[in-house]
Amino acid sequence: MTQASRVEEREYLRTPTESTDGARQLAGRRHVLDLDDFTREEIGAVMENTRAMKEVLQRDIKKVPALRGKTIITLFYEPSTRTRVSFEQAGKILSADVISVTGGGSSVEKGESLYNTARTIQAMDADLIVIRHPQSGAPHFLAGRLDISIINAGDGTHAHPTQALVDIFTMESHLGPIEGLKVVIVGDLLYSRVARSNLWGLTKMGAQVVLCGPPTLIPSDFQNGHRKEVGHPFTNVRIETNVERALDGADVVMALRLQLERQRAGHLPSLREYSRMYGINSKRLQLAKPNVLVMHPGPMNEGVEIDSEVAHGARSVIEEQVTNGVAVRMALLYSLTAPTLHATPDTVESQQLSKPGPKPRPDITSRRVYLK
Ligand code: CP
Repeated sequence: MTQASRVEEREYLRTPTESTDGARQLAGRRHVLDLDDFTREEIGAVMENTRAMKEVLQRDIKKVPALRGKTIITLFYEPSTRTRVSFEQAGKILSADVISVTGGGSSVEKGESLYNTARTIQAMDADLIVIRHPQSGAPHFLAGRLDISIINAGDGTHAHPTQALVDIFTMESHLGPIEGLKVVIVGDLLYSRVARSNLWGLTKMGAQVVLCGPPTLIPSDFQNGHRKEVGHPFTNVRIETNVERALDGADVVMALRLQLERQRAGHLPSLREYSRMYGINSKRLQLAKPNVLVMHPGPMNEGVEIDSEVAHGARSVIEEQVTNGVAVRMALLYSLTAPTLHATPDTVESQQLSKPGPKPRPDITSRRVYLK
């Protein structure tokens, strides 16, 4: 099937009913914590809203009043360039007030707990917190205890749902429907929150996912070739420790960052060895389909998990992933804080302030919470 006909088919596959169901689910959503609780239709709705946001980004003046009067806080306890800047840019383009808080320079340095920091932000009447935290589960922890919307911008080794949505959008915009695509994710699967969220998203969209890496970097629940539980969405995910076999006929190759800061447990003999065995280079890329997409969530260790000539070569869409990151995050901020079903360039032109108010505040006085 040609690339053009796949893209046309995408429009055909999303029927008006699917589209409306997904838009309803997305409009009713309060938090984005991972993709495990998204349906295929809802992911489709994010893709549709992202296309509307891309249209806004192509204008000479990239500014719409959709979120005027809303306050978004980015709360980052770990370093970030792409995710933090794209959320900030997304909020500003939609006319929200965006305030950045990082661990350094805030009262976190004086020992304030995550919970108290987040409650302080809530007390200032913020509408939404975008959080990155080194502990898996930190965004869920806040979502269960605060009245405001939470978006997970990466928690520990658990999830990075907005990156996975960026990746799915980028794949769809080049290759059409995700259904049936062979997507090979290569690298540090043990520590990768990007891989985990992509697994949820891609399996829901019907991709044929292959995870490839050294046995020491494959999570124990995926050892022995695949997950065993009958009916689990990851049962059909294939594990391959030989990168050449994995890449054969691939539509998409996603290299994962070798997380040097987490590699103290002796999982690898050396980076050179890893690169020799698993690095994505132009020779290996020839095993994939001619129109293969090369992806990487960033930041990259060029020369380790991916060669520079591949990272910046003709098949690479790595910079496009970054560009799409702004549109996807605009779509998510809009969906969580504005009331309309479908985002269109017209609806984002109007100020949307009538989303139903916050849920009643849970009684937390009896809980003793010390997550830092
Ligand atoms: N992909 C990603 O999360 O990059 P940053 O760490 O720069 O946000």
